[in-house]
Amino acid sequence: MTACAAQIIEPGTTTTTAVEITTARLVLRPLARGDLSRLVQLGNDFAVAKNLSRFPYPYKMADAEEWFALQSTIQAQGEQLALAVTLKGELIGGIGLGPVHTPQHELGYWLGQPYWGQGYATEASVAVLDYGFDRFGLGVIAAAHFADNHASGRVLTKLGFRYTIETNRYSRARGCDVRCLEMALPRGRWAQLRQGDGSH
Ligand SMILES: CC(C)(COP(=O)(O)OP(=O)(O)OC[C@H]1O[C@@H](n2cnc3c(N)ncnc32)[C@H](O)[C@@H]1OP(=O)(O)O)[C@@H](O)C(=O)NCCC(=O)NCCS
Repeated sequence: MTACAAQIIEPGTTTTTAVEITTARLVLRPLARGDLSRLVQLGNDFAVAKNLSRFPYPYKMADAEEWFALQSTIQAQGEQLALAVTLKGELIGGIGLGPVHTPQHELGYWLGQPYWGQGYATEASVAVLDYGFDRFGLGVIAAAHFADNHASGRVLTKLGFRYTIETNRYSRARGCDVRCLEMALPRGRWAQLRQGDGSH
């Protein structure tokens, strides 16, 4: 697991109005209007969209604008993370958790294809899981991946998630239900893994 001593800026502690998490290589921060062209450039990719349930394909500027417009509502709710994953100031993907206390309190993430295979999803997820357990006080965090998405299965397994049940979920980009593998990570297992990780 990628070591990640994350620095977290909470709402109200600075001029920042929302959570910002810094990991070894990444900054996870609220989406900004200036990210939208990168969001369209990287998000308009069937290889990304087919692995997500609600991501549209093709992904147009209107979709990015709609997502951006939702951000203030998401941040105001306070029990949900929806963050841009950035590298050297540039958006490379997105990560989210929550809303907590609902059936959708899942960890979810995506990265633009040029950034796959470099440990970024794992690194960002470690920080968001820490946040979910520490700040949201969750007892268990859920996640799920389509059965044919082996890379995400590997990310979640590396993080300590274990398989629970199989379902079918609609994929907007594929336009059909897809076999989906649900997973869970209890707080106790996360604490054990993080102790072994040496990054706490
Ligand atoms: C899934 C995704 C986020 C992974 O991001 P990433 O930054 O490449 O992930 P990481 O580098 O942290 O880890 C990927 C792991 O999967 C492994 N992997 C990659 N492709 C694989 C495949 N086809 N089969 C099995 N394992 C695979 C990698 O080897 C790596 O494991 P390792 O560290 O043991 O070598 C990225 O591929 C993506 O954005 N895909 C499209 C959107 C998506 O699937 N989102 C998740 C929805 S559940």
